[in-house]
Amino acid sequence: MCGIVGYIGSRNAADVLIDGLRRLEYRGYDSAGIAAQNGAGIHIEKRAGRIDALAEALRARPLFGTAGIAHTRWATHGAPTDANAHPHTDCAGRISVVHNGIVENFQELKRELAQAGHRFRSETDSEVLAHLIEEAWGRTGDPLEAVRAALGRVRGSYAVAVLFEAHPGLLIAARRESPLVVGLGDGEYLVASDAPAVVPHTREILVLDDGELARIDRTGVRLFDMRGNEVEKRPLRVDWDPEEAEKGGFEHFMIKEIHEQPAALRRALAGRIAPEENGAGSPAALRVDLAEAGWSAEAIRAFRKVYLVACGTAHHAGLVGKRLLEAATDLDVAAELASEFRYGEPRVGPAALVIAVSQSGETADTLAAVKEAKLRGARVLAVTNVVGSSLARAADYVLYTHAGPEIAVASTKAYLTQLACLGLVALYVGRVRGTLSKERERELAAALERLPALVEQVIRAVEPKARELARRWQDARDLFYIGRGLDYAVAREGQLKVKEIAYVHAEALAAGELKHGTLALIEEGVPVVALATQRPLVDKTLSNIQEVAARGGDVVALALEDCPRREALEETAREVWYLPAVPAELAPVLAAVPLQLFAYHMAKARGLDVDKPRNLAKSVTVE
Ligand code: AGP
Repeated sequence: MCGIVGYIGSRNAADVLIDGLRRLEYRGYDSAGIAAQNGAGIHIEKRAGRIDALAEALRARPLFGTAGIAHTRWATHGAPTDANAHPHTDCAGRISVVHNGIVENFQELKRELAQAGHRFRSETDSEVLAHLIEEAWGRTGDPLEAVRAALGRVRGSYAVAVLFEAHPGLLIAARRESPLVVGLGDGEYLVASDAPAVVPHTREILVLDDGELARIDRTGVRLFDMRGNEVEKRPLRVDWDPEEAEKGGFEHFMIKEIHEQPAALRRALAGRIAPEENGAGSPAALRVDLAEAGWSAEAIRAFRKVYLVACGTAHHAGLVGKRLLEAATDLDVAAELASEFRYGEPRVGPAALVIAVSQSGETADTLAAVKEAKLRGARVLAVTNVVGSSLARAADYVLYTHAGPEIAVASTKAYLTQLACLGLVALYVGRVRGTLSKERERELAAALERLPALVEQVIRAVEPKARELARRWQDARDLFYIGRGLDYAVAREGQLKVKEIAYVHAEALAAGELKHGTLALIEEGVPVVALATQRPLVDKTLSNIQEVAARGGDVVALALEDCPRREALEETAREVWYLPAVPAELAPVLAAVPLQLFAYHMAKARGLDVDKPRNLAKSVTVE
């Protein structure tokens, strides 16, 4: 949670920083602040509320200086007030700090510092960092040493950026368990929690590892470890288009990202499905190649069990991935919530492959599950969107989803690309293990290639219907999503979407479970979305739809064009929305889109802040 940005260069830092904060606002949005440094010292402006409130304050009282740090907050310790907003300073206001993470031992540190005479102005855990650095700076007189010594006393997680009044044009940054990148521009440098704040200025980044510090001035960047040794590191190139991190004419990031899904899918598939080398004469068939992930065929053949670990939407992708892997391979597959993984007794050992799915690659629960799995000897494949993320670096093998920057808190294009990548993984592992027939691989690979165009088609056909349905159901108190098999996995994603942005209680049920209790809640007019894309299961799902309709439920069904019981479905449900025919395994990629569009229009119809839902943040870097 929280976003930090820093700048050193020749432009006015506050202008660069406010733009950077807007690009990181998805990380937290209950207060924001900037510290800018010029020859006359460090000046701070901070405000409770959205970044607009800070921008407004800066219009009235501009900050000048070519170095600065900034922060957008998601409150953990202390209410979202002006006083609790970052940057925080030491007693004399000579050291300014922005922090993302949690100082777990802040109470004991605060007590100790208060006894030594330090005066605190906020209720945050972060403020202790400024005072700890002040103490250490008093002893050493060296900024890098002071930050290093202060952080040495901290338990918990941090990404920090620090300015010292006595050292103009110098910025010290460090990280442990919270992300931080350094952007290498032309005579200027940025630090940021995430790449979208950096890519408008440079695509060259250094990704800090846990326990590393950066000393940045206008002549360059030097990296150090916590023992003070200098560290050499090669920059990475981020291939994100800066325009993808802007709304580009759309009203919200979420709807823009829904419309970007065909392009995102094309990128996720690019170079991973190729024509098979064939003998003369026959047309080239397609096959999947994922050797890029860094795993050998030998390693793939040695796995006995697969665990998909993830949170939220990424977990819902994992539920689909489980079924795909089970269908294509002989492996035992479990899809686990990363936040629960450590509390059971998973039989994870050297014969296990853990597939960790995460858009951000920074979700604390997912990282903790990966750590646990590695301790037990498992190999880890990261399926993530962010190059150089903590997850990518912790994993043995990496498959990037290439969705491009996802800014809206509600995940859409990341989910679709996760589904596509897990489909590729299933096909590749199935082929390497010899459990998937050539014909099936070709059929599914060809169908995967058609998905981007089909998603485009679905968006066009369904958006007006989704808008209309949102008007009809906008005052609903509860929504139910039902489906069997893969449809149930997609139903879980549909209900999460509508809860998180439209604030309507929603529940997903395996359609067969309705009659075991929840059917009691179905009465005249209760909205129910029924997914019936799985051909062999349509008959049974249809019976469940009939149970709902008989009690007055208002059913909208999703089915494939070649659905076996079209007529019966149309007679039973109030509306049936058809999706292009695809192999049932890939139907989730199409079925998710109407549910995303409906949730979006529902939130809009209810007048809510679609991109920044209350109480949530994009990356959840706390457990
Ligand atoms: C989905 O719309 C969410 N906002 C949320 O559930 C998200 O998918 C989850 O927090 C996991 O994030 P990650 O993919 O970055 O790990």
